[in-house]
Amino acid sequence: MPSHDYLGREGFIQYTLEAYPVRLIGLDTLVSGEGHGELCTKRLIWLAARLAEQPTRPTLLFMHHPPFVTGIDHMDAKGLTGAHKLEALVRDYPNIERILCGHVHRPIFRRFGGTIASCCPSTAHQSELNLAGHASAAFVMEPPGYQLHLWKDGALITHTGVMGTYDGPYAFRTADRSIEG
Ligand SMILES: [Fe+2]
Repeated sequence: MPSHDYLGREGFIQYTLEAYPVRLIGLDTLVSGEGHGELCTKRLIWLAARLAEQPTRPTLLFMHHPPFVTGIDHMDAKGLTGAHKLEALVRDYPNIERILCGHVHRPIFRRFGGTIASCCPSTAHQSELNLAGHASAAFVMEPPGYQLHLWKDGALITHTGVMGTYDGPYAFRTADRSIEG
């Protein structure tokens, strides 16, 4: 992506985006050729230095692999190495609003290091929601989804949407009736 200067040209693809009300920090969890991820010492040292630069500014971390066990065993088997060290680091920075991840292809949330960590639904297939131990790896064609994170009134508000074509929108209120609760 040569037009994206902030990505750099070599090494881990980790970067910050500073031009928004919320500071964005991208982390590279890739282990080349493998399904699992890693935040090695080198990557965590880089993160520690970035966090120390602006310890009070609202900040959002994003990366591919979630730093927590989800209960979907076949995905957890391809989880993130280094999550405990990340958690210790994050705990020192209450300005971290979210840790946003993908990988598991389901909307999942968990408290992590004093902040909220989550996986986003996939824009393609979803992992099967099967929390039975050792369930075989499977995906389902549930509607694709996305998350929208709104910075408003000094807080980050996360909406999850589902893609597709649905009836509506219908007005809650018309001249002769209301169906508002
Ligand atoms: Fe993945």
